[in-house]
Amino acid sequence: MKRIVLSILAGVVLSACGTQGAPSNPAGPVAKERATAFKAFMPDFSSMKKMVSGEEAFEAEKFKAAAAQFAADAKVPFEHFQSDAQGNGNSLPAVWEKADAFKAEQDKFFAAVDKLNAAAQTGKLEEIKPAFGATGASCKSCHETFRAPI
Ligand code: HEC
Repeated sequence: MKRIVLSILAGVVLSACGTQGAPSNPAGPVAKERATAFKAFMPDFSSMKKMVSGEEAFEAEKFKAAAAQFAADAKVPFEHFQSDAQGNGNSLPAVWEKADAFKAEQDKFFAAVDKLNAAAQTGKLEEIKPAFGATGASCKSCHETFRAPI
């Protein structure tokens, strides 16, 4: 009986070790929620990107709707930045170690997103372009310091 218990335990320990070598970073429930929230705004972000780059024709009404939805959705991931004991996914430890710098990136991003929405509501592409550029630069700036390379 004792031996059976020991071999079950050994199996549990081995399988727990096995997951550590997995290629993707372990993500607990909180980390999964924030990754899902980031992915949720991508369709609107991509749609705007195509219209700004000229890959798709600019339609003011379509852009206005995407920017308004994006302004709401872009803030949601940041409600889920509690450190997850079961694994922080692609968030680097710097998110919590340099909490002030992370907050500064977040504030800069929210300001850029609101500015983009305001520019979008004018319907003028020449006002939208720089505002969209600033938003994209904000994504990149935060990812460089706080997200694992993916
Ligand atoms: C203030 C920091 C910050 C800003 C701004 C930011 N991100 Fe991220 N993003 C992160 C972090 C950190 C993660 C990793 C989340 C995790 O897995 O825990 C992430 C994850 C993602 C993911 C999910 C894929 C993955 O890494 O698991 C997508 C998609 C994404 N970001 C796109 C964007 C886009 C597009 C923008 C700009 C419109 C943006 N992000 C702005 C920090 C940021």
